[in-house]
Amino acid sequence: MSPSRTLSARRPAIVATLCAAALALTGLAAVPPAGAPTAAVARPYQDPSLPVPERVDDLLSRMTTDDKLGQMTQVEKDALVPQSDLAAHRIGSVLSGGDSTVSPNNPRTWADTYDSLQRTALTTPLGIPMIYGIDAVHGHNAVRGATLFPHNIGLGATRDPALVQRVGRAVAEEVAGTGIDWSFAPCLCVARNDRWGRTYESFGEKPELPTSMATFVTGMQGTALGGDGASVLATAKHYLGDGGTTGGVDQGNTELSEAELRAVHLPPFQEAVRRGVGSVMLSYSSWNGVRSHAHKYLVTDVLKSELGFGGFVVSDWAAVDQLDGQSGFTGAEITTAVNAGVDMVMVPHDYRKFLTLLRGEVNAGRISQARVDDANRRILTKKFQLGLFERPLTDRSYTSSVGSAEHRALARQAVRASQVLLKNDGGVLPLAKNAKLFVAGKSADDIGNQSGGWTLGWQGRSGPVTEGTTVLQGIRAAAGDPSRIRYDRYGNGIDGSYTAAVAVVGETPYAEMHGDRPGSMGLDPEDLQTLARLKASGVPVVVVLVSGRPLDIAAQLPDWKALLAAWLPGTEGAGVSDVLFGDHAPTGKLPMTWMRSASQQPINDGDGKSPLFPYGHGLTYGTGPDPDPDPEPAPKACTAQFKVASSWSGGYQAEITVKNTGTGPLTGWSAAWDLGGSTVTSLWNGSLTVAQGRATVRNAAHNGALSPGATTSFGFTANGGAGTPAPQCTGS
Ligand code: GLC
Repeated sequence: MSPSRTLSARRPAIVATLCAAALALTGLAAVPPAGAPTAAVARPYQDPSLPVPERVDDLLSRMTTDDKLGQMTQVEKDALVPQSDLAAHRIGSVLSGGDSTVSPNNPRTWADTYDSLQRTALTTPLGIPMIYGIDAVHGHNAVRGATLFPHNIGLGATRDPALVQRVGRAVAEEVAGTGIDWSFAPCLCVARNDRWGRTYESFGEKPELPTSMATFVTGMQGTALGGDGASVLATAKHYLGDGGTTGGVDQGNTELSEAELRAVHLPPFQEAVRRGVGSVMLSYSSWNGVRSHAHKYLVTDVLKSELGFGGFVVSDWAAVDQLDGQSGFTGAEITTAVNAGVDMVMVPHDYRKFLTLLRGEVNAGRISQARVDDANRRILTKKFQLGLFERPLTDRSYTSSVGSAEHRALARQAVRASQVLLKNDGGVLPLAKNAKLFVAGKSADDIGNQSGGWTLGWQGRSGPVTEGTTVLQGIRAAAGDPSRIRYDRYGNGIDGSYTAAVAVVGETPYAEMHGDRPGSMGLDPEDLQTLARLKASGVPVVVVLVSGRPLDIAAQLPDWKALLAAWLPGTEGAGVSDVLFGDHAPTGKLPMTWMRSASQQPINDGDGKSPLFPYGHGLTYGTGPDPDPDPEPAPKACTAQFKVASSWSGGYQAEITVKNTGTGPLTGWSAAWDLGGSTVTSLWNGSLTVAQGRATVRNAAHNGALSPGATTSFGFTANGGAGTPAPQCTGS
């Protein structure tokens, strides 16, 4: 990665000297803010050698109410008119929303824009730096020329948390190179219904997969926030249950018992908190009819108290406006959200009205001073830990990392590892490099389609939106003789002389609710017509699916010799051709169960439905044809793994994962273990019997069927101590 200069907070004296020198070099000499008393030494909050809590206490003691309310306010960059309002209203945070950009769109302009805003923020009497947030959700995707990595659904398919951590670090270097301090990533959503327009922002449908990928947080922040100039504040989002709404409706209603909500959607956030994530963004969605942004129990009692989250909670874009069902926001809505536990409000436009209303609510006592101080303490702690007071301006040593060869090589590796080979009849893959190939499909030569949403704009778009390599360019570069590769988007001109046809088809870009698919989940008419042309030629057809989710393709699958799920690979399309030609064998595993029909949605591992391809499915090269079915019934074998999910004085919540370790399918299972004196108080995804202090749980109707290697889980809460039981599993 780029040379990282480490101004570690561990050597304060050196740090202070270097910082003063650095600030002097940036023209922002360590001069006390205008109007401040000149002092031989910095005020305590300006002294990096002091512990952060002391600096926070000192700064809080000097802040006016307006200073404090401004810290709780986040404003869209383009709404800050005039820019001096940033200081005049003491605004503590700026963001670039999905369509916010700079012109010309290049890393230097972003860094200059950031520095100009920061210099304005530092003119306030206390000189509190602002913190700038952006959605760098699959690379620094607002910046033209940045490296775009696979969206999370592809990263989940890699099953490689260490790789994902390296991706997080690379993204942080590119973000830091433009000055920006904070990314609204990773989404730790557990997508349970593929109709949801944000399925591709999820690492997978089972909590353990997004949980394992919380390494992205460590990649972004470093093992210690502010450890070097590329440490960027991460955001675990969207808390809680955004991927579990009924019907997969974006911003909809998640109808689950508390036990199921905790079992399915909470674990990734527990892991992110354990990894020190600095911020959490709330979900627009509701839990059993109550909006997350109004949910004091979930936000304050569970996230902050039970999980011990010490960072700050930020609202989603104008989410506070939704609380009363009317457009616009009111003082009452602001009070509901802030008292539920929101520390910073992403307004994002009418900051004057927001601050007037917020001040009114505080002056009326409907928002306590203690709540205001707690919010400020949380926000300022992260600003201090990030090193913003010492290093407020862009660290330009990272600017050249934006779109660097190193990062693109890492992205290409991530693309390779994310490819999931679902079908490969007759070993048609890997393709020979001297093969005569016909390439078709709307996404074969389209970097916009292969990057998906959140790409140079909120919704993304088809076309040459940024620099990178399309799948076709990758194929041509890998082929021995590019003249033997013919491309026609629609398949026109194909004949029987080709070794194979490669059809790169799927979805065009979308984001959020614009990607919801309540109806058909199949291929669009253009793709179907292209595939029909290829089929008519009699040439073997290899399909590469560029999509943000599994699609309903069972009817077409028999016509395809091979199917490779490429997901949304980003700028390095050559990672797909690396796998097509066998330079790298496919290793990806499905992060989502693949439906047999859209009518099956939601369909998830262990729910008893019969998928086209099960969660975890993925072929590789070198495996011969499927072995003949064994005439003897395969032995029924399974294991049961116990894990404490959370504990409190006098009780605990546990999860037991059952795995089919046999070579044949299970139609049912049971797990038994000694309770060690504890008593089960609630249980989900199974049925419990207890005899002589021993618990036996049999599968629920929906999670009994397990194909070889598949897993499912059940959970329970109990009084007493968890101990370390070793459950015995019996398959049937
Ligand atoms: C959006 C998204 C959220 C994003 C925020 C800022 O509506 O829900 O994921 O971080 O606004 O762009």
